[in-house]
Amino acid sequence: MDERDVRQRCRDFRRAFPDAEIAYAGKAFLCRAMARLIAEEGLTLDVCSAGELAVARSVRFPAERILMHGNGKTPEDLRAALSYGVSRIVVDCPSEITRVAALVGGDGPAQQVLIRVTPGVDGRTHPAVATGGEDQEFGFSLTSGAAAEAVRRVLAQPGLVLAGLHCHLGSQITRVAAYQQAARRMVDLLAAVRDEHGLALPRLDLGGGFAVPYLRDQQGLDPLALAVPLITELGSACDAHRFPMPRVTLEPGRAISARAGVTLYRVLGIKHTATGRVFVTVNGGMSDNPRPSLYGARYSIRLVGRRPVPGHRSVTVAGRHCEAGDVLVEDVQLPADLRPGDLLAIACTGAYHHSMASDYNLVPRPPVVAVRGGESRLLIRRETEADLLCRDVG
Ligand code: LLP
Repeated sequence: MDERDVRQRCRDFRRAFPDAEIAYAGKAFLCRAMARLIAEEGLTLDVCSAGELAVARSVRFPAERILMHGNGKTPEDLRAALSYGVSRIVVDCPSEITRVAALVGGDGPAQQVLIRVTPGVDGRTHPAVATGGEDQEFGFSLTSGAAAEAVRRVLAQPGLVLAGLHCHLGSQITRVAAYQQAARRMVDLLAAVRDEHGLALPRLDLGGGFAVPYLRDQQGLDPLALAVPLITELGSACDAHRFPMPRVTLEPGRAISARAGVTLYRVLGIKHTATGRVFVTVNGGMSDNPRPSLYGARYSIRLVGRRPVPGHRSVTVAGRHCEAGDVLVEDVQLPADLRPGDLLAIACTGAYHHSMASDYNLVPRPPVVAVRGGESRLLIRRETEADLLCRDVG
């Protein structure tokens, strides 16, 4: 992980949206050093489990700058959030509203909540990471009236304070217009809440999802390109309803950490199939990067650590796991003299890689190393066989 890159991305967001709260989505990549960095850069942290919160707590991340998300928060998640005193809990289902209220009880301080709304906006992204439309498991529907009903439910709970509304369109979103459309619909709802309850909610959280280019031919969404059209749209929507401009929160995950990450693999073997393909097998795969098999994600890969002799050939880089689907990069040009022991590097692996890594085939998870100014520092050590066995108590 390139520490300078992560810090720069945090600053880019803060500069692009000087009046907004920027909340890093810890699900993209979180460890203690990352949580400290996010705190130092003045960002808020979005956690979605007691586990992520435990990392934040272990570095004393300020509770007033933590949001808790999740469409299925367990009693443990909610108890951890309340006992640490997180700033806001984003509620995502009717029974959760009463559960949070019951846990807060009569005597404790009231808990601020946001209501997650499904704005009915198509982010035009991979179906597995599209959350703005109606036919998925997140949020309260705006069009069916479920969101307005959730507002009534929260306002009826004395232990809860409704701080505002939230939506998240999905991930890898490239269109500014999708955010503008969501902003307009959310302001319509804020105005409807004011008209029904006489209450101008102060916060509007528009989620994350800002796309990152993994390959040269892919499009990203630069925070600077989004800022002016989005804030202008919000301003005009608020004006139309004579609604005061809410405090905006954005929740970038990938856009902060993806480009800082590079994963190194060691070539284990090279093989020619009867069909004429060349497979290069490496010492990792779907256990450290499930994204190609889950989303058809594509990456660039290159030889590092030595100068090849000129000449390339098309190969497929496969992982070491026991599945034909464990392919990291398909049909890519790599040096013709590639050999076992060589190092290959895949770029743009700083988000949803280590955080989605598994122990499949009981392959220990790789370490994470930070680099800065030519120095390296171990952030997460390599998993050991002892780690793999330590929970196995049968
Ligand atoms: N806010 C909420 C409520 C979210 O659910 C997410 C991501 C984010 C913010 C941050 O989204 P980002 O800015 O990173 O796109 N595993 C998938 C991505 C899943 C995203 C889950 N939610 C992948 O590898 O592409």
